Amino acid sequence: MVKSINFLLLLSLLAFVPSCHCKKKIGGYLYPQFYDGSCPRAQEIVQSIVAKAVAKEPRMAASLLRLHFHDCFVKGCDASVLLDSSGTIISEKRSNPNRDSARGFEVIDEIKSALEKECPHTVSCADILALAARDSTVLTGGPSWGVPLGRRDSLGASISGSNNNIPAPNNTFQTILTKFKLKGLDIVDLVALSGSHTIGNSRCTSFRQRLYNQTGNGKADFTLDQVYAAELRTRCPRSGGDQNLFVLDFVTPIKFDNFYYKNLLANKGLLSSDEILLTKNQVSADLVKQYAENNDLFFEQFAKSMVKMGNITPLTGSRGEIRKNCRGINK
Ligand code: HEM
Ligand SMILES: *[C@@H]1O[C@H](CO)[C@@H](O)[C@H](O)[C@H]1NC(C)=O
Ligand SMILES: *[C@@H]1O[C@H](CO)[C@@H](O)[C@H](O)[C@H]1NC(C)=O
Repeated sequence: MVKSINFLLLLSLLAFVPSCHCKKKIGGYLYPQFYDGSCPRAQEIVQSIVAKAVAKEPRMAASLLRLHFHDCFVKGCDASVLLDSSGTIISEKRSNPNRDSARGFEVIDEIKSALEKECPHTVSCADILALAARDSTVLTGGPSWGVPLGRRDSLGASISGSNNNIPAPNNTFQTILTKFKLKGLDIVDLVALSGSHTIGNSRCTSFRQRLYNQTGNGKADFTLDQVYAAELRTRCPRSGGDQNLFVLDFVTPIKFDNFYYKNLLANKGLLSSDEILLTKNQVSADLVKQYAENNDLFFEQFAKSMVKMGNITPLTGSRGEIRKNCRGINK
């Protein structure tokens, strides 16, 4: 009798092991409570500095959200995007998607230095990026989620990875979907995460082709609303004005909401990569329509897809390091 009870106890204990212990104890997994013991105030410190930066400049929320994306698509979420050039390291900041475009590095520096004071050599730059992306989303009115933590920082950068893995705004639908699939993300993630373009800016150079010569026949992109296109041309001429800034969501440019999708339905998506979610694939078009109709559904999927993106091949355990300064590897 006693033996059989013990046996049952053992069985029930075994049944528990895979669902809980492995995630917490074995390296390779991220979990939201990672710093609860080692740096309990980490998340509130990140939040307060992001909040201050966004209050000063609303666009900063968009810039920080994008940094996490540009980090994760290159060698995984390992803060490789934050490294400056030095020694053998060629900074990803010089790549096509990042040059004259990626920003927010000073805010990350400020967070890092506050965290080094609070708990030296503990919180990774890669986790700071993941937390700042979540906080930026919440601060602009978007959904919240628990951020799995425990990433470590890379010992190198990849400018070729930055040029090749991050989709370009004039890539075809298929190319963009393939670039997502190579990172373990699917068409649902693609449509939901593109909803990030509900906040932030784009330079003229990122969409000029649509205004003048979309397919090389000297004509504008016919999937772009003509009145909207004419307005864009006034500040995005055929040549010059490359760096002129435009809001990605012209209705609610600094609010995280589903107007991005509503704009696509009105043929007023700014980037070609935005509008093709509606015009080139039935599955993604259906998702665009669903998110345009149902903000809660968009928010729910956005949160899920952000966690999924944040899980792209992190360095964990003893791989990589905890940088002291996010711009360089430790001496
Ligand atoms: C699906 C493929 C994507 C393409 C082709 C793309 C392309 C771009 C381009 C060209 C810009 C404007 C850059 C400039 O002109 O300076 C931009 C801005 C932005 N992107 Fe994306 N993006 C994509 C997906 C994403 C994802 C997955 C996220 C986040 C999860 C994201 C977040 C942002 C944000 C927030 C901005 C505004 C940044 C700022 O104002 O500083 N994008 N994107
Ligand atoms: C996409 O844009 C880049 C940079 O402006 C340009 O070099 C390239 O030719 C464009 N590709 C297509 C297919 O239009
Ligand atoms: C449009 O692009 C094509 C190919 O890139 C080029 O040959 C042509 O001259 C351009 N037309 C105009 C009007 O810019």
